[in-house]
Parts: sequence; C-alpha cells; structure tokens
Amino acid sequence: MAAPAPYSALSHLDCARCGARHDAGQVQGTCSCGSPLLARYDLGRVRASPRDIAGRPPDLWRYHELLPVREPGHVVSLGEGMTPLLALPELGRALGVPGLLMKDESLIPTGTFKARGAAVGVSRAAELGVSAIALPTNGNAGAAWSAYAARAGMRSLIVMPAAAPAITRAECAAVGAELYLVDGLIGDAGRLVAAAVRRRPGYQDVSTLREPYRIEGKKTMGLEIAEQLGWRLPGVIVYPTGGGVGIIGIYKALRELLELGWVSGDLPRLVAVQSAGCAPIVRAFGAGAAVSEPWPDPKTVAFGITVPKALGDFLILEALYATGGTAVAVTDEALLADQRAVARLEGCFICPEGAACVTAVRQLRGSGWLSGADEVVVLNTGSGLIYPDTVPDGAPMLPPSGSAPGLS
Ligand SMILES: Cc1ncc(COP(=O)(O)O)c(C=O)c1O
Ligand SMILES: [Zn+2]
Repeated sequence: MAAPAPYSALSHLDCARCGARHDAGQVQGTCSCGSPLLARYDLGRVRASPRDIAGRPPDLWRYHELLPVREPGHVVSLGEGMTPLLALPELGRALGVPGLLMKDESLIPTGTFKARGAAVGVSRAAELGVSAIALPTNGNAGAAWSAYAARAGMRSLIVMPAAAPAITRAECAAVGAELYLVDGLIGDAGRLVAAAVRRRPGYQDVSTLREPYRIEGKKTMGLEIAEQLGWRLPGVIVYPTGGGVGIIGIYKALRELLELGWVSGDLPRLVAVQSAGCAPIVRAFGAGAAVSEPWPDPKTVAFGITVPKALGDFLILEALYATGGTAVAVTDEALLADQRAVARLEGCFICPEGAACVTAVRQLRGSGWLSGADEVVVLNTGSGLIYPDTVPDGAPMLPPSGSAPGLS
C-alpha cells in the first residue's frame, strides 16, 4: 500500500553553494562553508492538485505540502497570505504597460510581506524545539518575527538600526520583544546578535538566510501569483531587493511548480530593484559578476532595501541571469514621486520599497526592456502606513472658530 500523503513533503536541506546535504530534522543555521541552506522536497510524494488547493482556506498554509512544517498542529498563524493581485489600469496606461499588476502585501499581519517568512520560520523553529529567536533587522522583519514569536510563546531578541522606521520599534515593544537600537547599519546589528547568541544557550540566530525556512515562507508570494493567474506565469516579476530572500524564494517556488507540472512554459524574467543609494546587486549584474561587493555608505528612504552586502547575493544574481532578468537602480526622488502616483491613480498607499518597483517599470519601459505587451507583476512589499513621513500632508491648520476657503 502506498504511504499516506504527508502534510509536508520536506525531505532534506542542501547547501546552496557546495551542495552538501544536511538533516532537516535538526535545528540548522548555515553550511560549514558559510552558505545558506535550501529546503528540498520530495515532490513525488505531493498528492494534492491545483484543484485541491483551490478548496483550502485563503492563507499561505494552503501550500502546506511545499512548506517545511511537518505537523498541522505546529502551525503558528495570524492569517497571513493570499494577498490581492490587483490590476493597476490607470497607472499601467500612464506607464505604457497596460498589463500591470501589483501583488499587494500591505494587507498582511504586521503590514509587510515579512510576516510570511516569520510565520513559516517561527512555526518550524517551534516544531524543532527552539524557545527563543534573535535577529538583526531593518525594522519590518523584527516587527514580524517578534509578533509570531509572541504568538508561539517564544522569546525574541531584536537589534535594529536607530534609523529604521519608528513604528517597527513600537511593534516589537508591544509584543514584548527584547529590543536594542544600534547607531549603525544592519550588518552592525548582525554582529551584535551573533555575539549575543553565542552567550545565550537556547537562542537561535534567525538572521536573513542564516536559517533555512524564512525563504520558504517568502516563496509563497510566487505560489500565490501563479495560482491567482489561474496557474499561469506572468512575463515579468519586479521585486525590491535587499537581502534578496523574496526574489530567491519566488524563483525557487516557480521552479518547484514547474517540476510539479502545475505550471508550464518559460519562467518570468525576474527584476531586482535597488536604490541608487545602495545598489550592490545592480552593480554586480552590470559587471556580469557572480557575487556582489559591499556598497560603501548606503543611504535610501526605502529603508528595507538598505543591504550593502547580501549573504545570498550569488543566489539573487543566479535568478536574474537564469531567467533573462535584470537589475535596476532608482533614485529616492523618483520612487517618492511614484509612491504618490500610485496613491493618486489607484488609491493604494504603498511603501517606498514597493514604489521603487513602479519606478523601475517606468525606466524599463522607457529603455524598451519592457514592451507594451508584457504582463508585469510588481511587488508592493508593505503598507505606506509604516512610513508616514514619506508623504507630507501639507494640510493648513484652521483655528477652531475660523473659516477657510470653501468652508465658510
Ligand atoms: C518593505 C520591504 N521591502 C523589501 C525588503 C527587502 O526584502 P528581501 O530581503 O526579500 O530582499 C524589505 C526588507 O527589510 C522590506 O522591509
Ligand atoms: Zn556548503
């Protein structure tokens, strides 16, 4: 008799660089060669079909066979996933890309796509017996991971640059995280976390790509895009790239779907968008390089993508080269203008990182890299509400008893 279909088809972990195989049943960090580990699935054991998926609840756990949590009772959820894939007809017309779509991650717990990686990462960590997590963050990941840690009854230690969005500090504090600020960048926060974890037995360092399961949560953006298009792939996916977990995850997801036979045809061309003030991947791509060089003195209003040297840079670049994609840098001025354009034309107050993708589409259409016939999905990775200072309201203050033009 055939073995029953497992809740998760997880089989093992592979080193993304040297290929060494690792046991997925243990708490794992990076490979001994220093590289990230990638979860591998026994896709032949997946019995579900797209039709079965359609009948499941509208959250990311609907893809549970392709996620690493082995027991449904270990899922820690706040209802994350199945965010809208919105048509942007007015903006699309203005940009000359009528087939423009936006995967809108502002409608997810904690207000950014970071909830996906946190939900899956925390669930799997709890399943493996981890009782406390620690991470450096540009703000949003700290807010998300500490929220899911609270939900799981885990302790969390968060270190973020003092310049990170202020609301993310409040989010961490509200859920009871042990929170520290550093007068520096995410790399400085990472060194402090690594040192703390060495002195704190029981804590797992869940920094970007230093544990294998955050990427599994983020890959569900790719699964959802395919499902929401009726198990079809768009021509282009445009992603604001910092540590690169989302773009690496989307690439991984789409390859798994091809292997399952749930989609067919060419992969979308993947586009990594960075800020002109911190563009190590764009520079490496332009040079045809396999890895990036650290970006000196990074600075941008799109704070989530201020990552001067990503651990997974070689994986980001591989995804761009393999899909015939590209990498684009945009200025703060241009992305802030596009943040407003999206809000005015479509009613969506998106985050600066998401706005950077819109600017990239504008530039790529201008250069001819995109044609008017392309179906393009931009990722809005979070809510504009997290960055209230990016849009000055300019509203005049009225005295209580006074009047104003049109109000008297
Ligand atoms: C809103 C937002 N967008 C994009 C990113 C970049 O994410 P990734 O690590 O997937 O490149 C971040 C990371 O902090 C973020 O907060
Ligand atoms: Zn290795």
